Amino acid sequence: MRTLVIIPTYNERRALPDTLGRLRAAVPGADALVVDDGSPDGTGEWADEAAGSDPQVHVLHRQSKDGLGRAYIAGFGWALDRGYELVVEMDADGSHRPEDLPRLLEAATPGVDLVIGSRWVPGGAVVNWPSSRQLLSRGATTYAKVALGLGVNDATAGYRVYPAATLRRIPLQEVNSQGYCFQVDMTWRVHTGGGRIVEVPITFVERAEGESKMSRAIVFEALSRVTAWGAQARSRQLVGAVTQALRRRS
Ligand code: GDD
Ligand code: MN
Repeated sequence: MRTLVIIPTYNERRALPDTLGRLRAAVPGADALVVDDGSPDGTGEWADEAAGSDPQVHVLHRQSKDGLGRAYIAGFGWALDRGYELVVEMDADGSHRPEDLPRLLEAATPGVDLVIGSRWVPGGAVVNWPSSRQLLSRGATTYAKVALGLGVNDATAGYRVYPAATLRRIPLQEVNSQGYCFQVDMTWRVHTGGGRIVEVPITFVERAEGESKMSRAIVFEALSRVTAWGAQARSRQLVGAVTQALRRRS
């Protein structure tokens, strides 16, 4: 299967070489696309050099920092235009171990619409993640489960495999979540479209270099959107039930 691994970057100059090197060694058949948002630390320039010496490495440059969601949407378009069959999401900072990717790809069997590398399933783990982040991640996933009725244990996870067909079914230009909410947004779209989601345990290793881009705005976006989607889904269910009841009476 033609596979593209999309790696979004903002100021990952110190981490990206290791991640990319390990990825190329772990899954030599897969191509890589770095989507850099004009990182001031020279990540984009380094990626250009890497692409110059390795035909399986590509770079997409965007003007300025515009959020994880938009970076991925741009990368998905790039992948679909070029006929890739499997599209992978991977963080640049080493949190997603490239050595786990073969197991994720194996799980992308026919009939599976999304593979999530999951921290919060048996066999999953986190290393060096502050307890505040663990609590936030588990809280976010539990909230998404309850509000949306999602049967997924790690809805914000950013290590994923999408078959191209799944991405083609989603109106990507309408997906406008910017931060980590993007991951929940995509999960919700696959779920409401009746897609089959499989979780594979991974070990998430907190970055050794640089900084997380997590912010209050990112948390707020996720909380308010998930709440709104949940309310919409409930009111749709209610309208459906009332319509049926009225039909039965008439
Ligand atoms: N191009 C681009 N533009 N890349 C970005 C941007 C952006 O605006 N913001 C973040 N990134 C890149 C980072 O450079 C990194 O490669 C990846 O996206 C993840 O960003 P981090 O800032 O390292 O995320 P994290 O460690 O706090 O969060 C992790 O956990 C979240 C919650 O579970 C990630 O795995 C997220 O995907 C996940 O939602
Ligand atoms: Mn990170």
